[in-house]
Amino acid sequence: MFKRTWLKGLLLALLLPAVARADEGMWLPLLVKRLNHADMQKKGLKLTAEEIYDVNNASLKDAIVQLGGFCTGEFVSKQGLLLTNHHCGYDAIQSHSTTQNNILQNGFYAQTRSEEKANPGLFVDILVRMEDVSGKVLEGITPQTPEAERNALVQKRQREMAEAAKENGQYVAYVRDMFAGNEFYLFVYQRFGDVRLVGAPAESVGKFGGDTDNWMWPRHTADFSLFRIYASKDNKPTKGFAADNVPYIPKHHLPVSLQGVSENDFSMVFGFPGRTQRFLPAAGLQLTLDQTNPARIKLRDTRLKLWKEDGDQDPAVRLKYASKYANIANYWKYFIGQNEGMKRLKTVDQKTAEEAALAQWIAQDPARGQQYGQALNDINQAYAGMRQYNLSSVYLSEAALGTEVLAFASRLMPLYQQLKAESPDQAAIRKTADGLKESAEDFFKDYNPATDQKVFAALMQLYYNDVAKEQQPEIFQTVQKQYGGSMQKYAAEVFSKSFLVSKAKTEQFLQKPTLLQLENDPAFRMMNSIVKNFQENIQPKMQAHQAGLARANRLYVAALREKNTQKVYSPDANSTIRLSYGSVRSYQGRDAVRYSYFTTAQGVLEKEDATNPEFVVPPKQLELLRAKDYGRFADKDGTLHTGFITDNDITGGNSGSPVINGRGELIGLAFDGNWEAMTGDLAYDPELKRCINADIRYVLWCVEKLGGAKHLVDEMTIVNNGPNPGPVAAGAAPAAADGKATKVKIKTKKKKGEAAPATL
Ligand code: ARG
Repeated sequence: MFKRTWLKGLLLALLLPAVARADEGMWLPLLVKRLNHADMQKKGLKLTAEEIYDVNNASLKDAIVQLGGFCTGEFVSKQGLLLTNHHCGYDAIQSHSTTQNNILQNGFYAQTRSEEKANPGLFVDILVRMEDVSGKVLEGITPQTPEAERNALVQKRQREMAEAAKENGQYVAYVRDMFAGNEFYLFVYQRFGDVRLVGAPAESVGKFGGDTDNWMWPRHTADFSLFRIYASKDNKPTKGFAADNVPYIPKHHLPVSLQGVSENDFSMVFGFPGRTQRFLPAAGLQLTLDQTNPARIKLRDTRLKLWKEDGDQDPAVRLKYASKYANIANYWKYFIGQNEGMKRLKTVDQKTAEEAALAQWIAQDPARGQQYGQALNDINQAYAGMRQYNLSSVYLSEAALGTEVLAFASRLMPLYQQLKAESPDQAAIRKTADGLKESAEDFFKDYNPATDQKVFAALMQLYYNDVAKEQQPEIFQTVQKQYGGSMQKYAAEVFSKSFLVSKAKTEQFLQKPTLLQLENDPAFRMMNSIVKNFQENIQPKMQAHQAGLARANRLYVAALREKNTQKVYSPDANSTIRLSYGSVRSYQGRDAVRYSYFTTAQGVLEKEDATNPEFVVPPKQLELLRAKDYGRFADKDGTLHTGFITDNDITGGNSGSPVINGRGELIGLAFDGNWEAMTGDLAYDPELKRCINADIRYVLWCVEKLGGAKHLVDEMTIVNNGPNPGPVAAGAAPAAADGKATKVKIKTKKKKGEAAPATL
């Protein structure tokens, strides 16, 4: 590796503008021009900064959507066709499946538009614009402003700015803070509520490798599904499904490249990463490592085993719990990997050393001491305090809310408050109850009380065993006294008496809700006791520590950035739109193990195991692969490439993000991270962290060859423009410093009265 001496470092810092390094960083598209574009060009980007992000003309950002607030998708046709991951569409796919017509298991492709399936509640957000509003939010605020005053002012301004940007409900808008409250950005989106399922491969293809392969490379999963966004006849968003809606015409859609990738090719990933905590202090890491993660793992382990047991007995239960299982299992394995990684990579030690260096730097200058001197102490004190109550908080979310009937009961809390009021507002009660009917519909669709009863008994028992006695809800005493301490017996009682485990009874209750009935329901009583205990005994103490922590964190991050001026930091992920760039790269997983940057269909055949549900390969796929029938999707080496890896910096929420080459063409779908770098959300390791992608040619092969849905591929703009751009040789002038030398342009052809479709 390139070794940097202090002299070299100094020279570089003097000679070069503060240019961000590739690999680490989830960059705000608005700042790409200033912070990243020059570096991106060196890596092989041929687009101008405006072709990536522009408010007035069609640009790449117009092809990217946030799906349902939890994933990313991208337009691949001018008819609103959207690609995302299979695991992002999983819940929707499951919701349309029955044991008779199991499209989750068998796959599905709409042959006509009328076969596309509506998904109530699902939406996509498309970015209209973003703005740095730090100045406006922080105006007049000084380091001397009392914290409470600062908070109130900052929150009020954030709300007002978002409200104004909504333009009377036309847009969805919010202000998010970055760098622990040191900066603020406004995001304005259009929200489309008519999202229809168009296609998905069979589960054994789209989730090939299951939880065994999850979070691992090498990978052979065709993790994709297809949706279509519908809009009104004038191309405007609608709140939900409407029969006379038509396919949305995006301002831009990504052309799809059949070229394939080589090592060192430029790659960028555009999407909506959910959450990273790269600025988490050592004390926070330590708490995660030795308290939060072990508890999460244990509680999820228990829940998953019980769900699996019942699913294995009954295919209907398996189908009902498929999506819930996948979600819980995904992060169960993530927490395991994160803890293993933290130990292996000594993440806490690294952070501790960084903090020691920061403390030294602060101590060197009295002014710094004045401003930042307390920050690290305050942080450590706050975590020491929080540690006393942290388990209560973890058990609330993973045990109480991890028990389905209790989670459902918690949704009745607002209704309870209304019923309890001195003079109950009947109209408000009606409205809440009507809203709850929808939640009930949703809840009972995938609910099996017998399974949940087992989970209830097991998780409540762990709650009782593991959480400090003086922090436990009163109801546990009742269990001790009246049920001889048996959670099994108590669970039997709750599940035989509660109306919340029956759809009909819940509907009956919601028809005419009374305080008496709710208060006497044993499931509700349990949850109420847990929530009350948390609100009265735990939360105030946690909050007292958290209040100090927010300020200390803000100062800590500010100090860190001030100390390391030569390093351009990107803000932690917070579900806002980001771009990361880097290149296709193999890696050394551990001693003597070097991973190639791509996988092929050969690996599918090697992993195939008809006796293991995670590795079943459907007969037609077996036949096609054995015959090497790859069609136009074969690589130049004659094989069918299934996946590849890049050093793009991504995290959960990025799932479904496009991997884009230097010409703005789609080359893959990002869908996972690798086991060796499961600490990536806490600390980035450039040698180990990789982004796992489905090769777009494998995706198209699955749609066209395996799925027989060529009409969908024909809708896309397929291109074959020669080898992908790679790094520019040292000394050579950047290909197009001003973008003029590039032949590739995002053209905007505006037809009258229509949004502008764009092609490359
Ligand atoms: N690890 C992937 C992600 O978080 C999800 C993969 C889903 N597959 C699974 N077997 N659970 O994006």
